[in-house]
Amino acid sequence: MGTKNKRQDATISNTIISKYVYQNSFDKELDFSKKLEYQNYKHGRVESSFNRGVLFEKEMEKIRHFIQECLDDYVLNILKGGELIISQSWVGRQEKGQSVEPHTHISEINGCFYFTVPDEETPLVFNRENQLGFRDDFRVPVNGGELVLFPNKLEHWVPENKNNQTRYVIGFNSRNPAVIKEWTKIASFYSKDE
Ligand SMILES: [Fe+2]
Repeated sequence: MGTKNKRQDATISNTIISKYVYQNSFDKELDFSKKLEYQNYKHGRVESSFNRGVLFEKEMEKIRHFIQECLDDYVLNILKGGELIISQSWVGRQEKGQSVEPHTHISEINGCFYFTVPDEETPLVFNRENQLGFRDDFRVPVNGGELVLFPNKLEHWVPENKNNQTRYVIGFNSRNPAVIKEWTKIASFYSKDE
């Protein structure tokens, strides 16, 4: 017997999370990341590099190309149009006892490129809410060499790292090139005053 009540679906907002896998070695990029200076916001919270443009460093060139290619693919096939470029990028260092609290960024599509993930206890977790306000955790398992892209409107967090191995990840934001142009204009206006 078929379904009595027929249903039609419509998607009104795009919340697709996509994963890509980097096929090359990233030992040098990880070494470079380990040597960066890190800021610790609060005890127990993840540390993040002072450098907010790590993907524009020469050492990160190959990974930047990979990420931009994946971003282009996401824009074309998931968002079905537009243009996004990498804006801020940093490295997150999560040692034993540290976690990432729920947050969003100033971004359109966010990305995480994983260098080292100690175990399955530190997935990327999204707070999901349905139309009735019911919330649950949507856990995306992650591994070294994987890139996850997701819309910034999704609040996300990472549970405490209970492993002795440090979890290293590149985090980045993306914006429409027109927004970056606007920032450049604003930055050059204020830099004249200095
Ligand atoms: Fe984040």
